[in-house]
Amino acid sequence: MSKILMVCLGNICRSPLAEGILKGKTNHLDVVVDSAGTAAYHIGEQPDIRSIAIAKKYGIDLIDQRARQFCINDFDDFDKIYAMDTSNYTSIISLVRNESDKDKVDLILNEINPKSFQSVPDPYYGGDNGFQDVYDMLDEACDRIVEQIG
Ligand code: 4NP
Repeated sequence: MSKILMVCLGNICRSPLAEGILKGKTNHLDVVVDSAGTAAYHIGEQPDIRSIAIAKKYGIDLIDQRARQFCINDFDDFDKIYAMDTSNYTSIISLVRNESDKDKVDLILNEINPKSFQSVPDPYYGGDNGFQDVYDMLDEACDRIVEQIG
């Protein structure tokens, strides 16, 4: 059993999409996928309609997701914690209790280009194209994740 958490800032744009994409690629595997935000702004909300729309284009349904905030227990509940950008990464790292917690945290795009520390751009204030770009990056990163799990 592999337990994977996707983390962004608001848990309404990038990490819900990452959760949906990885769930879609792992439904034949013993994997738990969840997502959270480092900020509390959007707790309890559905994903952004633009994330719902881009996911739907690829047959992925996000509408049952609700935003929640990242918490310390997530270090115990998950094996791998993927930050969408370097700011999220820094926020998560600021909460680690030990080396074991720290070892679980990585930037998701490091799965495509190891140790490059590139960020999935925040699409919140941009146009719909931003969501397509985010989808494409996350789809490739999730393929790399599945290769490791499977
Ligand atoms: P996310 O995008 O971190 O990908 O969910 C954002 C959502 C909301 C805000 C910023 C980024 N916000 O400032 O409310």
